[in-house]
Amino acid sequence: MTKPFKTLDDMGDITGKAVLVREDLNVPMQDGSVSDDTRLRAAMPTILELADRGARVLVLAHFGRPNGQKNPDMSLSRITRPFSAVLGREVQFIPDCAGQAAIDGIAVMRPGDIAILENTRFHAGEEKNDPALVDAMAAIGDLYVNDAFSAAHRAHASTEGLARKLPAFAGRSMEKELDALQAALGTPVKPVAAVVGGAKVSTKLDVLNNLVAQVDHLIIGGGMANTFLHARGVDIGKSLCEKDLADTAEAILDKADASGCVIHLPYDVVVAKEFAANPASLRTCNVHEVEADEMILDVGPAAVEALGDALKNCRTLVWNGPLGAFEIAPFDKATVALAQTAAALTREGQLTSVAGGGDTVAALNHAGVADDFTFVSTAGGAFLEWMEGKELPGVKALMG
Ligand code: 3PG
Ligand code: MG
Repeated sequence: MTKPFKTLDDMGDITGKAVLVREDLNVPMQDGSVSDDTRLRAAMPTILELADRGARVLVLAHFGRPNGQKNPDMSLSRITRPFSAVLGREVQFIPDCAGQAAIDGIAVMRPGDIAILENTRFHAGEEKNDPALVDAMAAIGDLYVNDAFSAAHRAHASTEGLARKLPAFAGRSMEKELDALQAALGTPVKPVAAVVGGAKVSTKLDVLNNLVAQVDHLIIGGGMANTFLHARGVDIGKSLCEKDLADTAEAILDKADASGCVIHLPYDVVVAKEFAANPASLRTCNVHEVEADEMILDVGPAAVEALGDALKNCRTLVWNGPLGAFEIAPFDKATVALAQTAAALTREGQLTSVAGGGDTVAALNHAGVADDFTFVSTAGGAFLEWMEGKELPGVKALMG
């Protein structure tokens, strides 16, 4: 099937060409080293392919939020060695992404060489998508590749402006991401289920509103389930809850009814009087039996089993956010159990499963199933905006 965007397959002969490749190298650091190199590994296929095809590979990326100022703590020179180690190739560092320093650095590169250019956000024009910066960056490259889905919700010079200025292509990682997202919510095989968890309804209102109109089953977990239970008149004790959003939650439930989306809220729950690991007050009860001094911290085992049965009848799953307070035992149980069911169904070829956003990757890694899902996105904010049904500027620009 032809894709609505160009890929590396459409680039033709790129020997000796200067190719600007937008990657997301915004990796977490701890004590001066990269603590999670997922994004560096995600960049690898595109970078190696371009280098092996004889391009001069110029990696554009941001690092942190330096607000248009040079800040040595946020210099991409810190990522050059770790990136080189992941790629197994030499990587040069060029101290600017535009202007004379960039021109001089690129002038000495040979076909197949790879360089990281300094943090695009050191220029105030980056986040403003300033045409002057777009022109200055375009001047140093012949072609543009966007491989940074996780930064595609930003309409910045290096994510959006350049795609409109130079011949633009999706990198391998971007391509995989867009294909997976298309399979999950664009033209999914039905029935479709979505899991939306996390602490607060307020951060995921747009996600929930978009999903109820699109999916057949919406499984709500985490703290946000409490707000829905409260809206339905269930006494949830001292559980985390946004009581002021009761009307909003009700409107979402009505919208789901109207569009034939089944909402799944927990009917048994794991509660405790304090939020601590394996507390003495831990118990499992029916959702209508929560005491005034207890809080709901996870979905109960009966509900999890019913959710697993619901998934068995589905063909597509989109997952964002944990079902319980999964970072503390034993409130990880529901998330782990349902993730394992989803993983097993995926392995059997019953289910296409796509997950992403914030805590989700950590939760799936904790459940030991991230590799079994059809696709796990490296994106946080971009994945959420996509789940909200928004058009991502960096993706739109690739569509021409
Ligand atoms: C991320 O880390 O989510 C992306 O790199 C985007 O970074 P930003 O939120 O600073 O734009
Ligand atoms: Mg972010």
